[in-house]
Amino acid sequence: MFTRETKEKLGSRETPFYYYDLEMLKETLSVASGEAANRGYNVHYAVKANFNPVIMRIIAGYGLGADCVSCNEVEHAIACGFPPHETVFAGVGKSDREIETALKIGIKCFNVESAEELEVIDSIAGRMGKKASVALRINPNVEAHTIRHITTGTDENKFGIRITELDAVLELMKEMENVHYRGIHFHIGSQITDLHVFRNLCTRINELWQWLTDRGFEPEDINVGGGLGVNYDDPDQFPPFADYFDIFKNHLDSNIHSTISFELGRSLTANCGSLITKVLYVKPGASETFVILDAGMTELMRPALYHAYHRIENLTSEGPEKKYTVVGPICESTDTFGKFIALPETRRGDLIAIRSAGAYGEVMASRYNMRSLPESLFSEE
Ligand code: LLP
Repeated sequence: MFTRETKEKLGSRETPFYYYDLEMLKETLSVASGEAANRGYNVHYAVKANFNPVIMRIIAGYGLGADCVSCNEVEHAIACGFPPHETVFAGVGKSDREIETALKIGIKCFNVESAEELEVIDSIAGRMGKKASVALRINPNVEAHTIRHITTGTDENKFGIRITELDAVLELMKEMENVHYRGIHFHIGSQITDLHVFRNLCTRINELWQWLTDRGFEPEDINVGGGLGVNYDDPDQFPPFADYFDIFKNHLDSNIHSTISFELGRSLTANCGSLITKVLYVKPGASETFVILDAGMTELMRPALYHAYHRIENLTSEGPEKKYTVVGPICESTDTFGKFIALPETRRGDLIAIRSAGAYGEVMASRYNMRSLPESLFSEE
C-alpha cells in the first residue's frame, strides 16, 4: 500500500491526517457490488462508517443505495449522489423534524424501531398529506459473537421491535392510513467474522417471513443489515464478500421472492483508510517503552472505546524490532493504540500508519482537549 513515493508524499504533510487509498476502495466496491449483483442482491452503504464526501461520491458511483441514521446523513447522502428512492432512514430515535424532512425529500423508507415511532410517523405523514413507506426493524434475538458494545440484535439491546411485540404492531399498522408497509429490516451487529452467525439470521428470517406471510404481511423487501467483519490483522485482505452473500443465497428459503438488501459499512471502507501520524517522543516507562504519537483517541477512538486492535506500521524505520506501547497525547490512560507492539526501532519523527481506519475512524473523531479535527488526503491527489 505504501510505496516509497507514497511515503514521501505522506511524510511531507503536517500530521495527523487520514489517508485514503482510492484504488483499494474502488477494488473493494467493485468486488462487493459485483458479487451482490451476481446473486440479485441490493447493497446500501451504511453512511455512518465514513461520510467523507470524496469517499461517498465514489461509493454512489457504484450504484449503491444509502443507509442513514440521521436526517443530516440523508441530506448528505443525496448531495453526494445517492438517489433518494434508494435511501433508507433507520435509528431508534428519529426526531419529529427529521421525520418531516425525510418525508419531504421522499426517501425509500423508514426502518421503524418501535410501535410509538410508527404512530408518530403515521401522524406526521397524515398532517403532511403524505404516505410514509416503512419497514419494521425486527430484533431477531440472534447472537452476533462480536464485541459486546457493537452487538445489536439480542433481547438486551435497545434496537428493533421484539418478536413478542410484532403481532401488536401489525394490528396497529392495519389501522393506519398514512403508512405503506414495505417489508422488514434486521441488523444484528458489526465486525462479525464468524459467518455462521448469518446462517442463524437466515433461519430466523425464514420463520418470520412465513409468520408474516400467513398474516397477510408478506414483505416486498427484506433488508438483512450489515455487519460483515474485516481482517484487522491483515489490512490488505479483502473481506469475504462471495462467501458472505452465498450464506444468504443458500440459507434463505427459495420460496421467498422479496428483494434482498444489505447495509454494508465497515467491509467497504475500513481497509482503504489509514491514520497517518508522527512519533513525538519515545519515553521509557517502568516496564515498557512508550511511543507517543501526535494522534490519539481524538482522531481514532476505537481502541479507547472498544479495545479495538488496529495494525500499526512504522513507515520510516527499518531497524531491529523492539516492543513498544503506542499511545496518543490525550489526557486519558485509555488513549492507547496498542501495548507491547513489535515495531522496527522507533524514533522521534518517524512516520506511523494505523491501518484499517477507513471505517468508524474519521467519523468518530472528536475535539476533546480542544484538538483540531483531522484532515484527509487521497491517493489520487
Ligand atoms: N445497518 C445498521 C442498522 C447499523 O446499525 C450498522 C452499524 C450498519 C448497518 C453497518 O454495519 P457494518 O457493515 O459497518 O458492520 N462504531 C463501531 C461500529 C458501530 C456499528 C453501528 N451500526 C466500531 O467502531 O466498531
